[in-house]
Amino acid sequence: MRESDIKKLYKNKLNELKKHNKNYFDKNSPTISDKDYDKIKLEIFDLEKKYTFLKSPYSPSSSLGYPPSKNFVKSNHRVKMLSLSNAFNKDDLVNFEKRIFNFLNKKIEVEYSVEPKIDGISASLTYKNGILIIGTSRGDGTTGEVITENLKTIDDIPHIIKDKDFPRDIDIRGEVFIKKSDFENLKSNFANPRNAASGSLRQKNPEQTKKIPLNFIAYTFGFFKNKNINKQSEFLNSLKKWGFKTSEHNKVFKTINDLEIFHKKFEKDRFDLEYDVDGLVYKINSLELQNRLGFTANSPRWAIAHKFSADSAYSKITDINIQVGRTGALTPVARIKPVNIGGVVVSNATLHNEDEIIRKDIRLGDTVKVERAGDVIPHVVLVDLKKRKKESKKFVFPKKCPCGFDTIKEFNKFTKKYDAVRRCPDRGFECEKIAVEKIKHFISKEALNIDGLGKKVVENFWNLKLIRYPQDIFNLDYAKISKFDGWGDLSVSNLKYSIDQSKKVSLDRFIYSIGIRHIGIENAKLLAEYTKSITNFLNLIKNKKFNEFLNIDGIGETQINSLKKFFENKSNYKIIEKLSSMLNISDLKLNKDGKLLNNTFMFTGKLSNMSRAEAKSLIEENSGSVVSSVNKKLKYLIIGEKPTTRKVEQAKELGIKILSQKEWLNLLD
Ligand code: IVH
Repeated sequence: MRESDIKKLYKNKLNELKKHNKNYFDKNSPTISDKDYDKIKLEIFDLEKKYTFLKSPYSPSSSLGYPPSKNFVKSNHRVKMLSLSNAFNKDDLVNFEKRIFNFLNKKIEVEYSVEPKIDGISASLTYKNGILIIGTSRGDGTTGEVITENLKTIDDIPHIIKDKDFPRDIDIRGEVFIKKSDFENLKSNFANPRNAASGSLRQKNPEQTKKIPLNFIAYTFGFFKNKNINKQSEFLNSLKKWGFKTSEHNKVFKTINDLEIFHKKFEKDRFDLEYDVDGLVYKINSLELQNRLGFTANSPRWAIAHKFSADSAYSKITDINIQVGRTGALTPVARIKPVNIGGVVVSNATLHNEDEIIRKDIRLGDTVKVERAGDVIPHVVLVDLKKRKKESKKFVFPKKCPCGFDTIKEFNKFTKKYDAVRRCPDRGFECEKIAVEKIKHFISKEALNIDGLGKKVVENFWNLKLIRYPQDIFNLDYAKISKFDGWGDLSVSNLKYSIDQSKKVSLDRFIYSIGIRHIGIENAKLLAEYTKSITNFLNLIKNKKFNEFLNIDGIGETQINSLKKFFENKSNYKIIEKLSSMLNISDLKLNKDGKLLNNTFMFTGKLSNMSRAEAKSLIEENSGSVVSSVNKKLKYLIIGEKPTTRKVEQAKELGIKILSQKEWLNLLD
């Protein structure tokens, strides 16, 4: 790469980080996971290491956190509020200790104060003569925001300390956090308890802070006049004596091995704690040694944070529910005690299917490892058998669908095995669970794309018995709806507008919207290209000429059998006929001379003023095609807001052209 390109890349990464800092620190609403945030930081560090000419005052290596918000008065910390460097495995710990021995120039026996790293917001409290004078947030580490009145609303923070041993001038530092149980009532507004705590603490009006129950656990000091304490563990005991809350899990260990053992156990038990903990902090216990070791630019040499996995966590299964999908598949879902995995509170994890439960012998009450990586939905990976109670019993997978029908396991002719998935046989709209999922599919983006009639609204209307079949959507009683809670004239007229708009639909989208198993978007397109009009499509079905579809390249026995099965059910046919009379289904006209012929596109990130579905059809109307992975066949990657970094990098490596939304629209004039 040329120097100018490297500088450009570096600047882009810094800007990206700056944007996320603003979202996190100023707006209290991060838009990426902690893991992705750390990844950007690491990328910046790597670039700086590799190319020493890269320097910026905005680099995370020269700044801490985020400048204080303009909403508060600022105050300089008497002693900087630094952060901790991270360790992720034993090697990192061994290196940490090695660095200490090197610095001291000898190997000595050390003692570590071990403390949970509470995932909250740090605060500093200055007490003079036992009176709380000022309370601040960390801010950028040098300057914090004065939030004394907000901090004073927290019961755990003493305003006056009368203990005769309490230092006359000291900054007490610790973590402000919200308990997991209190977060339960706030979870619709925040991704995790830390965001909720941050939001509450930085309210302009302390009365607002009071409304969200905050807690404070003390763990260190900043400025400390006439320090007469020798060890961190002694300081923690003194904090307790002076009236502060400290963690009940603080420990002292001597060897890396002991640290490792404790870390492993703590990581497995953390779901049971009252508050989120994202690692353990190890601090050299001797304050004299801490003094000698001192600090690097950002963090102390005498402490390290040993993080827990950001992809997985242990938790306990409190219930197992069965969900029924659009195709009748019964999916078992474990309800687990909420646990924070990489910044997201997870309380459900899929168990995939009946066979998976049997294979892993997953039972109610089990402690399990749950993984949540990238966009994959959280799933149970293993059971911690040591934690299983003697009286635990095997989970019996229900043989009936929640709708009451007997379920089946299909035999796969090709693999000569029974399917792992148990299904409620699709009896049209008779299974209520399947029916509601079918309606959700019918209105989805790639089907009829009815804006304003989201999944939640469908569920709501279903429960109110306003809809039972897709066609009911076109006969809604709007006057009645406008009287429901949360609905007003404007939202009802928006709903009516988008429903009316959706009546005009192309044949391929219509076939897809029916929700026939094995007929996804691509197959629906093939069927539409072949039949050309809804009349032809219905005629073939009516005359049971399913085998004609075998002429279509891409349609095979599986799809034909699925179509047959679907239309064997008379009510299914009637619904489709009825819909075809209510909708304006346009014949499929293939445009082979559009501007984008022979060009392939892919999207990453959010487009402005346009859904992905709309963008896709715009490309297809102009003879282009949309693909779903970055490979050599891809010609253009279109980047919206918050694109996936990996995709952009892959595209760059393959020399694929990258376009902004504007540049892409310019291609179309
Ligand atoms: S010591 C210079 N102890 O972790 C020492 N920090 O990345 C800095 N934290 O900003 C703090 N529990 O918000 C310390 N027992 C603990 C902690 C702890 C949580 C947080 C704190 C700090 C961050 C460091």
